[in-house]
Amino acid sequence: MHSFLSIGDITQEEMHRLFDSAHLFRQSIKARKSLDSLRNREVGLLFEKPSTRTRTSFEVATERLGGNAVYLPSSELQLSRGEPVKDTARILGGYLDVIVARVFLHHTVEELAKWGKVPVINGLSDLEHPTQIVCDFFTIREARGKVEGLKLAFIGDGNNVCHSLLLGGALVGMDISVACPDGYRPDPGVLDRALREAKKTGAVIEVVRDPGDAVTGADILYTDVWVSMGEEKEREKRLRDFAGYQINRELLDKAGSAAQVMHCLPAHRGLEITDEMIEGPRSLVWAQGENKLYGAAAVLDAAAHLQE
Ligand code: CP
Ligand code: NVA
Repeated sequence: MHSFLSIGDITQEEMHRLFDSAHLFRQSIKARKSLDSLRNREVGLLFEKPSTRTRTSFEVATERLGGNAVYLPSSELQLSRGEPVKDTARILGGYLDVIVARVFLHHTVEELAKWGKVPVINGLSDLEHPTQIVCDFFTIREARGKVEGLKLAFIGDGNNVCHSLLLGGALVGMDISVACPDGYRPDPGVLDRALREAKKTGAVIEVVRDPGDAVTGADILYTDVWVSMGEEKEREKRLRDFAGYQINRELLDKAGSAAQVMHCLPAHRGLEITDEMIEGPRSLVWAQGENKLYGAAAVLDAAAHLQE
């Protein structure tokens, strides 16, 4: 793995290595073992948007692996006063060994990687959220023993998280069925890439309108917010358009009796998911949240080893 801007940047084998690595890091971190794969390494966290899980998990994972984390909110950088991304990247690349970046425009992580000359990890852009999907598929593998051959139904907005699920499912051989209203379908370019990749693994990738169709035979029901960061002005329209796209008891009953529920968080109980689903016995949401730490450790470890 060099930069990790998209799930499509890694191979199926690398994805499985990340799962194995996350599994080992979970044991070591829980046992409070001293780890040193990031010793003498500086990890910068350049964030243009808020974050609870991604920022904290990458920061803590860096420290647990013996490295040093520097939080760089873009509002406190000269970026906020118009310094170009490429100039910022050239300077930061000279100080840092890895950059984790959460940005509005996907182009920004590409620019950081191009000019920074150090591995850049996409901690969420408008197009993708690849590290989330590493952690989520790791969670599924831990819960179900495998990822290939399963079916995941994504209910809601064809957004960044949905894009990375589509590409990730195609990569590992997991069927992905997306149910979304008209006007909120995934990006056609991402969908095409996922469909092409799925031919190699046999994954079935589809986009439908009816949530009931998507969840038929699904092992996992997954959702994300209806209003992503930066879309707040569309809130009222989105709440109207997504009515009926909620993960609730009725929808879960339509899926198999073993189906489980996931949400990358933050969640809005009563909108895209009910409190009962998040807190219920078939929820993987809290394991998913915890696993962000072990997934971050695995991704950082892979990025740091690149430079050896
Ligand atoms: N799931 C996720 O990325 O959460 P944060 O926005 O809190 O980082
Ligand atoms: N789609 C959401 C994900 C948050 C983790 C957003 O971009 O805000």
